[in-house]
Amino acid sequence: MIKLGIIGCGYWGPNLVRNFNSINGVEIAYCADLDENRLSHVKSLYQKIEITRDYNSILEDEEVEAVVIATPVETHYKIASDALKANKHVLIEKPITNNSKDAIELIRLAEKNKEILMVDHTFEYSAPVRKIKEILKSNELGKILTIDMIRVNLGLFQEKINVIWDLAPHDVSMLLYYLEETPLTARAIGQSYIRDGIEDDARITLEFKDKIVANMHVSWLDPCKTRRTTIVGNKKMLVFDDVAQDEKIKIYDKGVTIQKNNIPKQPYYDTYEQWVLTYRTGDVYAPKIENKEPLSVMAAHFIDCIKNSKKPLTDGYSGLRVVKVIEAAQKSLKNDGIKVDVEND
Ligand SMILES: NC(=O)c1ccc[n+]([C@@H]2O[C@H](COP(=O)([O-])OP(=O)(O)OC[C@H]3O[C@@H](n4cnc5c(N)ncnc54)[C@H](O)[C@@H]3O)[C@@H](O)[C@H]2O)c1
Repeated sequence: MIKLGIIGCGYWGPNLVRNFNSINGVEIAYCADLDENRLSHVKSLYQKIEITRDYNSILEDEEVEAVVIATPVETHYKIASDALKANKHVLIEKPITNNSKDAIELIRLAEKNKEILMVDHTFEYSAPVRKIKEILKSNELGKILTIDMIRVNLGLFQEKINVIWDLAPHDVSMLLYYLEETPLTARAIGQSYIRDGIEDDARITLEFKDKIVANMHVSWLDPCKTRRTTIVGNKKMLVFDDVAQDEKIKIYDKGVTIQKNNIPKQPYYDTYEQWVLTYRTGDVYAPKIENKEPLSVMAAHFIDCIKNSKKPLTDGYSGLRVVKVIEAAQKSLKNDGIKVDVEND
């Protein structure tokens, strides 16, 4: 039996409680929150869980092997470093920290104490995202040219972090998972329309090697909940609509080629006929995707890593890579969208 403590039971924490609670061989011994109302809510659902306002009482219990941290990002470093120093394995919600220096320190602490440090990049555990990775690996789309990601809705407005820190970690983690590399540069523009100084709408452009360009639009100020990724390859194109009830992924056998024998030698075109592009519009298909809650897959993976001393798919380094991209985007945002180099490992 692995004993766990969950710290932070606001909006997201109860989802973690529900998922860990359903894993055989796991006991959630404690839940901590500063807010009595949130603790009463958890207690009303799970009478056996001990509730506390002070997370240190979880860290003091030697029977607790691991903690799950679902508090606001600015508190992640302090709570996680306290937990690692108390020899607990740690799972932290995304983003791992609000700066790369702190993420590096958490990695160092975990390695020193031989503890598991994992970050919940939830989408890397989602079936459609894993299916997309499989499709990309099979080279069905050909060479990747562009990736466009949209994550917009009305709210949930945050008080202390802007929309980039809140929402972009999801898309950045997916992007790095798909491409298995980090971008070279980041540019971002954004505006704060509702709360002064906290951007609620932002657009990010990331450039990778080999001319791959990814664009992201993240916003709390949109009437429609949209979570869409479009991946354009030179053979086929893919659209992932995570809001769709079914057929979340569609693969379009669409493309465009220039008929080379019609291109004149000169760098200009005299007639329309010389400028011949062939558009290919073939079949569209939707691959079958299993229907499993990503959070349950993520939670089971954390427990498996603890039990079998495995390296998590989304370990501290994965968390750090995402934070470095967000940091570069944030720097660009604060400097009128200039191109900022993304620091690499
Ligand atoms: N993986 C996902 O899809 C996903 C979705 C939403 C939020 N999140 C992440 O989850 C984390 C929490 O987000 P949220 O929306 O639930 O925030 P929230 O503000 O709704 O909840 C945070 C809770 O933490 C508590 N808290 C703060 N400091 C504490 C401390 N020192 N000790 C104990 N409790 C403390 C607060 O009282 C609050 O109840 C963030 O890191 C966020 O990015 C992840």
